[in-house]
Amino acid sequence: MIERFRAVLNGKPVEAEIDSRALLIEAVRDCGARGARIGCLTGDCGACSIVLDGRLVKSCLVLAVSAEGSDIVTIEGSRHAIADELRDAFVACSGFQCGYCTSGMIMVAIDLLQANPSPTEADIRRAVSGNLCRCTGYEDIVRAIGQAAEALRNKCTGKAENGG
Ligand code: FES
Ligand code: FES
Repeated sequence: MIERFRAVLNGKPVEAEIDSRALLIEAVRDCGARGARIGCLTGDCGACSIVLDGRLVKSCLVLAVSAEGSDIVTIEGSRHAIADELRDAFVACSGFQCGYCTSGMIMVAIDLLQANPSPTEADIRRAVSGNLCRCTGYEDIVRAIGQAAEALRNKCTGKAENGG
């Protein structure tokens, strides 16, 4: 059965015709946000991680019809200091090789740093433990997230010292 899917995607209203069995990752990509990836479709790889009504979810585990009317943010809509710092750190630390897992890793890292600006290495490893990197670049990914966290803290300290 064909259903109409409406949502706010990265701040803009979107609308699409979808199969009633479509997954949210499929609807989101059909609506143009192709940064979220289709990997396993079984909730194991984290490549499809997005924010749904403020909560990080694996969008292959959500039926699109159940997200009707929701507010969705993908990597394309993640435009803030934490996301920018993570992107820079992933480049600086070679936190990606083929890049397939990267948007999911960054979405998880944003979620982590929003909740915990000073994560330990164990915190970072725990946060990304639901995400797979088939290039096995885990060490560099963990290092990149740690580096981004440190850079963000230094910026905050600098602002505080300068009265900003
Ligand atoms: Fe969703 Fe792998 S595609 S967890
Ligand atoms: Fe290739 Fe992670 S960089 S899957």
